[in-house]
Amino acid sequence: MAVAVALPVEARAAIARWMPAGHVIGAIRLLQRPLLSVDASHKFLVLDQHGTPIFFADWSADVAPQAALRASERAQAFGDAVGPTLARWIVAPHALGTYHGRTCTIAPVMHELGSRNPRRGLQRREKPWRVMQWLASVAQRTTRAATAQERQALFDGPLRLMAQHPSVGTPARDIARQALRDLRAGRWQPIVQAAHYDIRVPNVMVQSKALLGEPRLIDWGSATPQGHGFFDVVCVAESFRLPVPLVRWALRRHAAACQQDVQHVASHCIAALGHLRMTQPQWSDVIFESMARQLADYLGRLAIPPTPAPTPAPASTQATGHAGMASGWHGTAVNASSFGDG
Ligand SMILES: Nc1ncnc2c1ncn2[C@@H]1O[C@H](COP(=O)(O)OP(=O)(O)O)[C@@H](O)[C@H]1O
Ligand SMILES: [Mg+2]
Repeated sequence: MAVAVALPVEARAAIARWMPAGHVIGAIRLLQRPLLSVDASHKFLVLDQHGTPIFFADWSADVAPQAALRASERAQAFGDAVGPTLARWIVAPHALGTYHGRTCTIAPVMHELGSRNPRRGLQRREKPWRVMQWLASVAQRTTRAATAQERQALFDGPLRLMAQHPSVGTPARDIARQALRDLRAGRWQPIVQAAHYDIRVPNVMVQSKALLGEPRLIDWGSATPQGHGFFDVVCVAESFRLPVPLVRWALRRHAAACQQDVQHVASHCIAALGHLRMTQPQWSDVIFESMARQLADYLGRLAIPPTPAPTPAPASTQATGHAGMASGWHGTAVNASSFGDG
């Protein structure tokens, strides 16, 4: 049975104070969407007297009353980390207040990537590459070596969870086990960088209906200035179904931007998923396990080269760290079942 949800009167009054001069609230419309979990917040569109959408409002669910505020704080922290130019892409919700014990935010209204053909086709082809480029700039700006504490919290712990998990599937477990071996043998020095963790098609929007132009990113509830940035690149690639050879190229560029060897992408991404599992207790087992299987399968399809035998690299390669990265892609392609054999 559908349950009617309405924003409290106090929230309406607070929104009214934000309305641009000459506009008044005409209606507040609940966005009806399938709620994937009980803690999903309620989303509303605030329309002015002419029926024009002016604000997007997000009111936390009663079981997660801080969710809307937390997303706004995370968007802010991410923006501070990347600087004002890159932060333009962030649709940052503004904290409005707490109503019935549940925080509420408003944000400017964005548009979904074209819902009509051929607009849809063009935007869906063009926007992901812009996002990839933005992510490379974010990486350049925010990457640093993980501290001992971060190694533990963001890599070692999450990888142990994935390596021992009975239901994530063999490919995901194998990647995690190999990553742990690399980590402990010192073959992999993990990095941290700003990460959004959910850059999929529905979270990439545009400011105006114009075909070209910078996209805008929404849904900042999991973002952090110190996370697993490669996960975002892989997430965009998979969600937009980008051609695999171009994804490899984008990953190489991302790796170059943060001086990380591209062969560690799979380790990084599986650690990211383990970390999300540990920090998002509301996720159902079913969703997590299917994400793990899908991610490992996708990483297998990308055929990221396995960890090479530890032969000393030529001095010139060691100096830049990039020659080895690029050449890695010319190595033998592996499928998912090859992960973790080394
Ligand atoms: N600023 C916005 N303007 C217009 N629509 C929005 C805006 N933010 C979110 N939406 C719509 O609401 C949907 C869900 O919002 P989102 O913040 O992504 O929450 P969820 O965590 O439920 O995915 C989006 O996919 C989009 O359709
Ligand atoms: Mg979303």
